[in-house]
Amino acid sequence: MSTTIPPKVEGQPLLGSLIPFLRRPFEFREKCTAEHESILRIDVGPKELYLVTDPEDIEEIFITKSDSFQKPELMRERLGDAFGNGLLLSGGEIWDAQRELAQPEFEASRIGEYIDQMGTIAHGVVSNWDNKNYDMRAEMERITIPILVECLFGTENVEYVQRIAEGAEALTMKYKPTSLSFYLPDWVPTPINMRYHRGLKLLDNTVDDILTERNRGVNRDDLLSVLLKAANEDRYIDRKLIRDEMITIMTGGSGPPAFALAYTLFLLAHHPRQYEQLQAEADAVLDGANPTISDMAELTHTEHVYKESLRLYPPVWTIGRESAESVTIGGYHIPKGTSMVITSWATHRDERFFEKPKVFDPGRWDQDQNRPQFAYFPFGGGPRICIGKRFALTEAKVVLSLIASKYDIEPAHTESLDHRVSTHISPKNAEIRVQPRQD
Ligand code: HEM
Repeated sequence: MSTTIPPKVEGQPLLGSLIPFLRRPFEFREKCTAEHESILRIDVGPKELYLVTDPEDIEEIFITKSDSFQKPELMRERLGDAFGNGLLLSGGEIWDAQRELAQPEFEASRIGEYIDQMGTIAHGVVSNWDNKNYDMRAEMERITIPILVECLFGTENVEYVQRIAEGAEALTMKYKPTSLSFYLPDWVPTPINMRYHRGLKLLDNTVDDILTERNRGVNRDDLLSVLLKAANEDRYIDRKLIRDEMITIMTGGSGPPAFALAYTLFLLAHHPRQYEQLQAEADAVLDGANPTISDMAELTHTEHVYKESLRLYPPVWTIGRESAESVTIGGYHIPKGTSMVITSWATHRDERFFEKPKVFDPGRWDQDQNRPQFAYFPFGGGPRICIGKRFALTEAKVVLSLIASKYDIEPAHTESLDHRVSTHISPKNAEIRVQPRQD
């Protein structure tokens, strides 16, 4: 095993790199990545983090040496009450069994069955749009949350939209290292902690309501029915684990898809040629109807637009791991218990892998570029890759093609894009002007 330790980023006495790490999170990580040092040690106050920027090392952590890593203990401490042993935080046998149980609901054939529902829900929201400005983040949540709960939990109750949006946001803000609450116990009544408890209650109540609806005898064929069947058969899964999984899916599956779509539409409003191309593709493929399964393979420009938006603004912009044992990564010694930070935002903007990395250029995806697999990883990778990746990609094609077929869009303001930052990034000001198409 190697004994070489990674170089350290110079910082201030006692504070280390705390201030730039927290205050200028994107710029600081991009600067470190530009040093091309594969792994860098950073002092964030008293805590030492290892920033991993090189695709080969990321591959080792996600795939070849994934058994040597686990989800960070701090994440379990801060979010354990919310996500319990759901897929995001669990490990070992519990995770194995749950992933195996849920995976079939996210396979291509199953996602194909959701496309009509996705189209109907998206159509229901956008057909009410008028000639005015809309905040895309809120509008996209009005689409992605009903799609999620209807396809996976079999409920059409629109009251859940606000509750899930608010609850999920409160949970993700709780794991925000720039806030004081991150360093204080849960019971301290800071605004973030109070919001967290309120949000968790909203989600717990929503789980209870959905389960009560289901007990009334609605017979569905969805993710919830798979979980309930496993519990009835007395497999390891019980009521608490079903609740953990539902809260995990509600949080992971509502925000990131909505944020990604909001970023994409904001970018498109500022890149009219790209949008015209998207409209031309939607017209040719959809021919005025809602998208169908056979349309999906033909919406290639739509897919490239979405991929490029996920490159520039990956909603899950940073991923944490902790070494469960001593291990060598990229030739460096990583002691047991080391906190590893992997930042897609910065690696996605590394000019070694992307020419003019800050430019929104969907055309770069037209040909297969010879770049390492983990130069681009908006959905993570290896065994813990996002279970909802295919779901999100399909939903995006449905929503974007539908909007392009019906509306012209343009910027609603000239401010630069601003972000809300926690474990996720979401746009604060993704307002655009929509106008029914005249052509
Ligand atoms: C654009 C949309 C999405 C993005 C960018 C995204 C991103 C990610 C990323 C990066 C991870 C890996 C986290 C890690 O390795 O620590 C992840 C995991 C996960 N995502 Fe997503 N996600 C999206 C949509 C969804 C959807 C639609 C669902 C559910 C319907 C979902 C459910 C999950 C779950 C349950 C995990 C944990 C998987 C496991 O550890 O087994 N995500 N997501």
